[in-house]
Amino acid sequence: MVENVRGDFAEIGVWRGEASRKLIRLSSSQGKKIHLFDSFSGMDEPGSFDSGFHPKGRFDTGGLAGFRSIMKSHGFSDNEYFAYDGFIPTCFEKVPNNVRFSFVIIDVDYYVPTRDTLNWIWPLISRGGILVLDDFKPMNDMECSKAINEFLRERNDYYRLDFLNFQLFLRKEV
Ligand SMILES: C[S@@+](CC[C@H](N)C(=O)[O-])C[C@H]1O[C@@H](n2cnc3c(N)ncnc32)[C@H](O)[C@@H]1O
Repeated sequence: MVENVRGDFAEIGVWRGEASRKLIRLSSSQGKKIHLFDSFSGMDEPGSFDSGFHPKGRFDTGGLAGFRSIMKSHGFSDNEYFAYDGFIPTCFEKVPNNVRFSFVIIDVDYYVPTRDTLNWIWPLISRGGILVLDDFKPMNDMECSKAINEFLRERNDYYRLDFLNFQLFLRKEV
């Protein structure tokens, strides 16, 4: 899949780490690091392109400490992953400048954080790397789908690999 592509793994929007735990195993099997991003205090206020289906604070895990404790209860120690707390884009500020990615999942539901994440992370994904965009409903031009539709219109350096269960898989052009 991305074994031969340079760069770490990342998940943006991790909630209780269910997908993260699978990604930790996958990244370490490829000898790569993994970076996990979340407010860890749940959703921010919905914006004008969001339905408001998720009120502020939904998916709160009790801060980074709460998240780490959930991960420990599943057998994952702190040193198996890097975690960055804070709202997007503040949580991106502590990532070292030389970090590049080979596999990224974005799952933050709302328009502005999805747009800001795409703007930040796309240039950091290596050529041949894979980006997974969750909850994409192409005909519903709201929330994360609006940001994804804009991204797809504005860029041409990707291939569509698959679209399955509302998850869009893109590969960055080699
Ligand atoms: C649907 S949940 C993610 C589920 C997770 N990917 C999984 O597979 O279990 C969305 C997550 O995005 C986070 N999130 C949403 N908006 C955010 C923002 N503006 N900044 C940081 N985190 C945000 C929420 O805290 C929540 O944990």
